[in-house]
Amino acid sequence: NADSVVVSGIQPSGRLHIGNYFGALRQHLDLHTQHEAYYFIVNYHALTSLHDADKMRQYTMDVALDYLALGFDPDEAALFVQSDVPEVTELAWIFYNLMPVSRLERGVSYKEKVSQGLNPNAGLLNYPVLQAADILIYGGTQVPVGADQKQHIEITRDLAQRFNNTFCPDDDPLFTLPEPYILDDVSVVPGIDGQKMSKSYGNTIGIFDEGKALKKKVMSIVTDSTPLDEPKDPEQCNVFALIKLFAEAEQRAEIAEQYRAGGYGYGHAKKELLGLIQDFFAEARERRHELEQRPDYVRDVLRDGAKRARQKTEPLMAQVRNATGL
Ligand code: ADP
Ligand code: NA
Repeated sequence: NADSVVVSGIQPSGRLHIGNYFGALRQHLDLHTQHEAYYFIVNYHALTSLHDADKMRQYTMDVALDYLALGFDPDEAALFVQSDVPEVTELAWIFYNLMPVSRLERGVSYKEKVSQGLNPNAGLLNYPVLQAADILIYGGTQVPVGADQKQHIEITRDLAQRFNNTFCPDDDPLFTLPEPYILDDVSVVPGIDGQKMSKSYGNTIGIFDEGKALKKKVMSIVTDSTPLDEPKDPEQCNVFALIKLFAEAEQRAEIAEQYRAGGYGYGHAKKELLGLIQDFFAEARERRHELEQRPDYVRDVLRDGAKRARQKTEPLMAQVRNATGL
């Protein structure tokens, strides 16, 4: 759809892993050349749990480097830092006044984070309201997210409706209701322990891991103890689950056949996987090393992205202020 506006926020919480790549980034990169797109590094959101300025700066830069290295093209869409567009917090404040506290307290993601030990500060509670502002301020129609984020999109739609109903004439609503674009859930990428790959579980393989560190991680992927000689079921194997993501159809079928035939050990499979990962990200890895030497270029991209974003947010906020009497 030519009128689609794709928006997505990325948490600056360290280096991205291959679960992030296949579950989100790859689709972000596909979408950004096809649509008007706004991708922002959500440092205000990260501030709900990260209170360390050096880390915040480092992680913010890391995400920008990761996106650019993996093929984000600044001519195709805007990549920027959330706090460089201060209008978004202004809109969030307005939305706070339309949102019952009880609804936020029932938030699945909020409750889960608190149960994981995160500090239940007001920022954390209001996280979905800021997210709604992030989406609606760009007129986002398509929000690529994992299934776990569905509730936040519902809150966003609800806030758009509440604002329109409260402050806009029926025939002239200010906000468009966005649709979640639920990313393929088939690809829940397993980590080296077989659980869902996640930073929180310490079981990740980083997109830009390399050398000994990468090898060590791949070699430590958990497998069962079927002896080398015996036939194995590829569909039951964590190593094969990762091979499937990286290998072309033909090679994938070939490796599956070797599993089933016997005489092919998990060590073989891991070596195969290691080679596949190295090849798959080779170009991006090189590009990332180059970009690390050009921090000024990266900052220019972000500054330029924010400028483009504000071309959208400033006129919108003028309308919002007008509608609310501020
Ligand atoms: P993490 O669990 O490592 O903290 P995030 O929650 O920051 O990752 O996820 C960022 C994006 O990557 C989300 O869209 C999420 O759905 C996707 N993602 C994260 N882990 C995986 C995984 N193991 N498999 C598929 N997608 C994933
Ligand atoms: Na685009």
